[in-house]
Order: sequence, then structure tokens, then C-alpha cells
Amino acid sequence: MRTPFVVGNWKLNKTVADALSLVTELKNQLGAVKGVQVGVAPVATAIHAVAKRLEGTSIATCGQNCHWEASGAWTGELSPQLLADAGASWVIVGHSERRQFFGDTSESVGKKAAAVIAAGLGAIVCVGESLAERDGGRTLEVVDSQLAGGLASIDASSAAKLVVAYEPVWAIGTGRTATPAQAQEVHAHIRKHLADRLGAACADSIRIQYGGSVKASNAEALMSEKEIDGAHVGDASLEAVDFIALVKAARPS
Ligand code: PGA
Repeated sequence: MRTPFVVGNWKLNKTVADALSLVTELKNQLGAVKGVQVGVAPVATAIHAVAKRLEGTSIATCGQNCHWEASGAWTGELSPQLLADAGASWVIVGHSERRQFFGDTSESVGKKAAAVIAAGLGAIVCVGESLAERDGGRTLEVVDSQLAGGLASIDASSAAKLVVAYEPVWAIGTGRTATPAQAQEVHAHIRKHLADRLGAACADSIRIQYGGSVKASNAEALMSEKEIDGAHVGDASLEAVDFIALVKAARPS
């Protein structure tokens, strides 16, 4: 049985004060929630304060990105070690916004994922096709190639620290969600890719999140698909009332 993992990715939103006010509500309402793991990914400047506020709860603090080197002459970058030092326990790598606007490639995502896991943190590796790729019938091929690069250094021993997030780019921030059946088809394919690489038992233990316009009203239908093990949430994670309802809807029935 995989425990679903719901992560709120706040992207470039919220001051430290706003982040603390949101997370305090989450702590009060979700701090003891059962059957689902919860995480939040604040902007880097709020990670330390958020992680401190969440101490003693099961809600994880996550980084939104990192560099693969631990330290050195890399102006503007943050390493997994520094994110851990600030209180993060997971790091998102390869989000489509990073790939689209900041030059992340499957190769660099693979280096980041390896660095995150080597630093003792969990890596959430994002994959997903664009609308043109879906319309061109290339979804599974694109996802395979992103997985091949993104998981290049992952072996069965590091799989406990791995989560894959399937996020079709056309569904992110657009209000257009993949149907549960569309998502399930790709998730099943990802599971098979993981099984071919890491063995069936290992693949069975890895959570695969769905992301792309998930909200409280569609979470339950998505989560009831066999291979969907949680959600990667943007917009609907920015208000406590929305995110709390979504997490509750994502709990296994
Ligand atoms: P969205 O973002 O929920 O706003 O569509 C999802 C994501 O980018 O992970």
C-alpha cells in the first residue's frame, strides 16, 4: 500500500509572513491527518521559517528546485545540503516551468535528483508532455525520455527517496485537468518504466503524483485511479481552505 503524498507547490508566491499564516492553518487542520502525507514547497526565503513552524508535525517542507553541486562558485544557486540545513526534507526537480523557462534538461534534472538523494533528502521528479506532444501522439515517448534522464542515477536502493510527479504541461495552471483515465494511462506507463528499470517490487513502492489543475472537486476521482498516489498542486495550494479540502478529498476511502 502506497501512502498518497500531496504537495502544495507555492511557486513564486508568498512573503515569509503570508507563508507562516498559511502554514499555521495547515498545521492546525492537517497536522494530525491520517492516511495521506502532506508537503508544502515555499519560496526558498520562507523555507526556514515554514520548516520551524511545522516542527513536530508530519507535514514536510520541500524545496522547489536546487543545484547539483553542494557548494562553490555558483552564484544564485542553492544546494540540497543548504535546503536540508534550512529544514527541507524533499526537493522538487524538473518542474515544467524550470524546463520551459530556466533551461532544465532531462540530463540536469538527473544530476539534481541524484544530488538530492545523495544529500539524504527525497526527490520529486516531475515529467510531462506539452499539448503539441500530446496532440502528436508522443506523450509516452516524451515521458520515457524524461524518466530516462531524470532517473539516470537512481537505483533500487535509492527508490525509497523517490517520488515521480506526472504533470501534463497543458493541464498546469490552465484549469484543464487530465481525465482520471488519461492520467491513469500515463501513470501505468510510468510504473512499467520504473519496473523495467528497478524491478517490479521496487516500482510498486514508488509514489506517482498527478499534477495539473488538481482541486478539491476533482481530487477524489483522480486519486481513486489505481496508479495515482497523490497530487502535485499549484493554484489550489495557495489558500488554506482549498488545500485542506483537497488533502481531505485525496485520502484513501
Ligand atoms: P496547478 O499547478 O495546480 O496550478 O495547475 C500544478 C503544478 O505546477 O504543479
